[in-house]
Order: sequence, then C-alpha cells, then structure tokens
Amino acid sequence: MKFFIDTANLKQIKEAQDLGVLDGVTTNPSLMAKEGITGRDNILQHYKDICAIVTGDVSAEVISTEFSEMVKEGEALAALHEQIVVKVPMIKDGIKAIKYFSDKGIRTNCTLVFSSGQALLAAKAGATYVSPFIGRLDDISSDGLNLIAEIRHIYDNYAFQTEILAASVRHTMHVIDCAKIGADVMTGPLSSIEGLLKHPLTDSGLAKFLADYKKGNN
Ligand code: E4P
Repeated sequence: MKFFIDTANLKQIKEAQDLGVLDGVTTNPSLMAKEGITGRDNILQHYKDICAIVTGDVSAEVISTEFSEMVKEGEALAALHEQIVVKVPMIKDGIKAIKYFSDKGIRTNCTLVFSSGQALLAAKAGATYVSPFIGRLDDISSDGLNLIAEIRHIYDNYAFQTEILAASVRHTMHVIDCAKIGADVMTGPLSSIEGLLKHPLTDSGLAKFLADYKKGNN
C-alpha cells in the first residue's frame, strides 16, 4: 500500500518524507490556498519545490473545466517534472482529457470521485489513479469505505490497472480499513500516518525496558 500525504505544506511533507514511508503527495486548489500559495507562477514553483522533497508521485490539479484548456494546462503541469501526475476532475470533459493524457503517456489522477460508476468510467478512460473521497462521503452519512470495497471488486473483475487512491482520509482507522479492503494508495494528513505508530502497550513496555536496563546498569 502506498502512503501519500494530502497537503501543500512543505514542512509536513518533509517530516513525512523523513519518516521514510512516504510514496507521494496529493494537493488540490484548497490545500494550495491554505498555504497562501496563489498566482500561477507561485503555484507551479510550489509543485517543483514539493517534487524536490519527495521521490514519489505528486498530484497537481488542473483548474480548467473545458477539454482543450484542461489539455493545455495538464501538459504544462506534466512538463514541470517527471513526478507530476495531472489531477483531473470527474466531469465529462475530464474523462475526455484523461483519455487524451493516457494515450499520450501522461499520468493522471481522477479526482472528486463519489460513486463506483464514476470509478468505472475513470478506469475505462485510462486513469493512472482514481480518487474516491471517503471522508466527504462519511460527512454526509454515506459509507466511504463501502465505496472503496465496491471499486476494488469492480477493478478486480476486469483487472483494471487504475490504482485506487483512497482520498479524503481523515484518521488512522481510515488507513487501516482501506488497507484491509485493498486500496492501492491512501492519501491523508500527517496525523493519519503518525497515528499508526501509537499503542499504549508499546509506550509502557518501552518505559519498563528502559527502567529495568537503568536498574541493572547503575
Ligand atoms: C484528494 O486528493 C483531496 O486532496 C483530499 O483528499 C480531499 O480531502 P478533504 O475531504 O479532507 O478535503
């Protein structure tokens, strides 16, 4: 299972990279705005800065919603760095753009996916990744994890190569449940990765080991 961090915050990206388990980064326009990154040139530079920190894939989202504009924007993003994956929204022109990019060997991440039908379409168009937003489904009393399971089932039926990137992961249990279901990738905040470390028996066990060592070596 690949671990992506879902942020545009360079400090957090570096912290996750230093942990040694990071496989990539996802961003979106809201995450960019949260870090105060505005203006096309600054945004493009920020993607390059992220690519310089991590070794894996970095999703960079197009803002256009019309096919030819998406293509122009996506090609410029892909040309920035070999790690860039063009993030395209799940709309009609987005599907056309994914097919176009796929035919040209440009990797894509189909974003804002909320149903298995959308995920099927993204795979048919040749998306590299499909991003079902599980947290946002949970937010409206729908079952985000069930969507991951449905997509896993459908993709396995036909051996689609599109990777299931569980997005809008909010906490550690989302990560564990996605791993049980067989999501290929999860993207979440640093806290969702660091939460995997925690167990009180680890902490109390280590404290006792260290105390016993100290007793015997004083
Ligand atoms: C996915 O790539 C998105 O950036 C992200 O996971 C959205 O998460 P949110 O619902 O917590 O905003």
